[in-house]
Amino acid sequence: MSFGLSHYDFSDKARAYADLARDLEGLLEGERHWIANTANAAALLYAALPDLNWAGFYLVTTSAAGVPELVVGPFQGKPACVRIGMGRGVCGAAAARRETIVVPDVMAFAGHIACDSASRSEIVVPLLRPGLAGAAGLAGVLDLDSPRPARFDEADRAGLERVAAIIAAACDWP
Ligand code: SME
Repeated sequence: MSFGLSHYDFSDKARAYADLARDLEGLLEGERHWIANTANAAALLYAALPDLNWAGFYLVTTSAAGVPELVVGPFQGKPACVRIGMGRGVCGAAAARRETIVVPDVMAFAGHIACDSASRSEIVVPLLRPGLAGAAGLAGVLDLDSPRPARFDEADRAGLERVAAIIAAACDWP
């Protein structure tokens, strides 16, 4: 098995994301452990998508004070900030709103948390657990960073929301 590391032609983003979604489903098939599946998903995304310097997950956890927050999960790229409060940075904002946030210029996003100074643009997509509403429905977020300004467009948003839905449904979350 090639583990889905085929070549994706992102000159046609809709087609490339459809191919990637198919390979991701194959990669995660038969396994429900969230660490295994988010680790392999981060590796697949980082290998497949051009112009990334970070690809990975922040997962919902609880602070020492018992408050929900995000903690870094499996990723590819440079070591990253460990904990992010709900509403803080791009990741915390996407988690609090349970909505995808596309940031064409990270310098222009108030509160952006700079983990890698090479990052110029970013997309954060919530991982929404199927069938669970409200706070209980949020498993975490998928975060992709790029050294290229305005790297992520509406086709990336659509493709990565499909990717996030596959991952959210494929895992038993803690
Ligand atoms: N830039 C993110 C923090 C995570 S790193 O990019 C990996 C943010 O503002 O939430």
